[in-house]
Amino acid sequence: MTSRTGVITTVILLFFFRTAVANPLQEDEGWYKKTIHAIHLQLSQAINMYTPGNNPRSVQPDGTVRLANVQDWTTGFFPGSLWYGYELTGDAQLKDAAKKFTLGLDTVRHITNTHDLGFMLYCSYGNAYRVTGDSSYLPVLQEGATHLYARFSKTTGTIRSWDMPEWHYPVIIDNMMNLEYLFWAAKAFHQPAYASAMVTHAVTTMKNHYRKDYSSYHVVDYDAATGKVLRRVTHQGLTDESAWARGQAWGLYGYVMCYKNTGNKQFLEQAKHIAAFIMHHPNMPADKIPAWDFDVHNALDGAPRDASAAAVIAAALLELSTEVPAGQPYFDYAAAVLKTLSSDTYLASPGQNHFFLLKHSVGAFLYNSEIDTPIDYADYYYLEALKRYGQIKKLI
Ligand code: GLY
Repeated sequence: MTSRTGVITTVILLFFFRTAVANPLQEDEGWYKKTIHAIHLQLSQAINMYTPGNNPRSVQPDGTVRLANVQDWTTGFFPGSLWYGYELTGDAQLKDAAKKFTLGLDTVRHITNTHDLGFMLYCSYGNAYRVTGDSSYLPVLQEGATHLYARFSKTTGTIRSWDMPEWHYPVIIDNMMNLEYLFWAAKAFHQPAYASAMVTHAVTTMKNHYRKDYSSYHVVDYDAATGKVLRRVTHQGLTDESAWARGQAWGLYGYVMCYKNTGNKQFLEQAKHIAAFIMHHPNMPADKIPAWDFDVHNALDGAPRDASAAAVIAAALLELSTEVPAGQPYFDYAAAVLKTLSSDTYLASPGQNHFFLLKHSVGAFLYNSEIDTPIDYADYYYLEALKRYGQIKKLI
């Protein structure tokens, strides 16, 4: 090699080294932009494949799509994903579709027999109102909030989750996700009683759902007449004493939002403890996508992973990272989760996966239901987390 060629080679190598290694912001922008491009292509096709009121929920073992009708607890996630898709891309077609799929859920306002009204209405109509400020979305949100609040009992100090006759007064950890709706409704509709009921629910749940290690039981069944705890069991976890992965994620997210809405430090402490349980769990795989239950014995190799739990954890940790002065470890952990979810292992190629974004979630393993499938709530919380990440890093 002549000395001239050597100098040129060194300059070229230095250029590539600087571009690839010395500029982490560009690297971040690289994976993020690529991901937003992929989700844009996918959502743009999804809106033509499905019809309002019958939203895509998951993929069944025979390869057909399980649809969520207006009674389905997951029905609000697809419209919500479209609102986030619009915010992430600015594509007016996604906005039009988000509106159409939201309005397809109008009759959810009449549902009274479930706590899932938070998921169903706040993710759809709630995002519609947040994004557009259009007050025509408010009556449905107001009616739904009335029905959800009606499920609160001062005796148990909780909202009742399910009405099935095999339970007395069941409250599941998932219920923590519905509090944000009533905190918002308390302000929007001048109903301070909603907010104090939500604080009571969160305090009661801290006391009765959580173990010493800050893992959570799935279901606590109360005596409706006395408020006494009758039993603590699981519905979707491995055993009554295990840590069902999505349940831990729901609890984390719920307490982060309780702190955000109240400034009450006991909720922040609870959220930090739950975060530590999840982030330092010995069965958390290196790629930070948990198996469907933290206590499955082959969690580190072989047990189906739950991308939905990972997406909820990422969304919650990003929010937590902005609520505390020393938030960097939460941000870094969430960023690692998001990068894994955005890899080919989890993020579907556009046109594949029945137009869902993520692969590999688990609905209810022991019921042989929705195992290793795309699922609508994984996509919703993934998009929410991508939006929070983009805002924190000032990429959007
Ligand atoms: N709320 C039910 C679930 O998380 O699967």
